[in-house]
Amino acid sequence: MKVKVVEVGPRDGLQNEPESIASQDKIKFIEALADAGLREIEASSFVNPKRIPQLADAAEVFAGLKPRQGVAYSALVPNMKGMERALACGVRRVAVFTAASETFTQRNIGMSIGESLDAFRPVMEAAQAHGVSVRGYVSTCFVCPYEGEISAENVVRVASDLHALGCDEISLGDTIGAAAPTDVQRTVGMVLSALPAKKIALHFHDTYGTALANVYAGLQLGITTFDSSAGGLGGCPYAPGASGNLATEDLVYLLQRMGIECGVDLGKVAEASSGIARILGRDLPGKQWKRLQG
Ligand code: HMG
Ligand code: MG
Repeated sequence: MKVKVVEVGPRDGLQNEPESIASQDKIKFIEALADAGLREIEASSFVNPKRIPQLADAAEVFAGLKPRQGVAYSALVPNMKGMERALACGVRRVAVFTAASETFTQRNIGMSIGESLDAFRPVMEAAQAHGVSVRGYVSTCFVCPYEGEISAENVVRVASDLHALGCDEISLGDTIGAAAPTDVQRTVGMVLSALPAKKIALHFHDTYGTALANVYAGLQLGITTFDSSAGGLGGCPYAPGASGNLATEDLVYLLQRMGIECGVDLGKVAEASSGIARILGRDLPGKQWKRLQG
């Protein structure tokens, strides 16, 4: 069995830091993650810079990244304006993002779920015309910080809509890190009655310490793509209570220990995390990262 780890630290991690860090430091971080064997790295976002000032330098970051064979540097794109900015930077993989909760979608991107899907249509057309591949995110798949419990039917509907629009992979997000493995079994199990497992990625935040248990539930369902962030950096400024993502080092340790190949060097990810921890001037939450500090 082989698992793909999608590294989201440079985007989901750094978007939540109170201070912006220098583009050069972001580039070094991303290059170090590629050196560690990560093959898909979400490098930044082309969103309204007033909403996420930490990632306002997406163009500078992409300009500084050397293309590498077999490595995809991707970016979030919420609308055509974002897509135009991404195309101008030569980005080859983008991600559109919506949610299973109406209130969260409104707070995050100022649209209803239906309006967000309408906004993605021209993005998908432009992507196809330029040979750019597109991932789709569904946030708040289990619990919404505004609406509470989210029904699995909503998740199935939005995931199916993104797939029908042409997204080649749908990442199901536990945005505030509140889910338990039984939620994963129920909701992801229901999504799998509509979409094949190879099209699904799981994106866990670790607020309540359940992310690794949720990965295990996902593996048992046949899911082979998981998102994580170096050192456990992360969160979403529009999701109160969202803490860091599942740490990449913790995910890689679990996979290695279970004999599942992922092509990622745990020690080298931890070195990349240490570099960013020095710049942020604080420790990171990941357990393996802390262990490797000695
Ligand atoms: P808006 O601000 O709601 O409204 O934008 P607007 O369309 O009227 O635009 C307002 C201003 O933004 C205008 O400029 C536009 O030109 C500009 P002004 O006239 O004020 O000078 N604008 C843009 N500028 C640059 N790039 C763009 C762009 N679009 C409009 N693409 C928008 C709507 C979606 C852009 C906005 O609400 C936004 O940027 N939201 C930020 C959302 C975000 O990045 N959230 C965090 C990522 S999602 C997440 O973390 C969850 C995830 O990790 C999965 C999980 O954990 O569940 C993916
Ligand atoms: Mg996230």
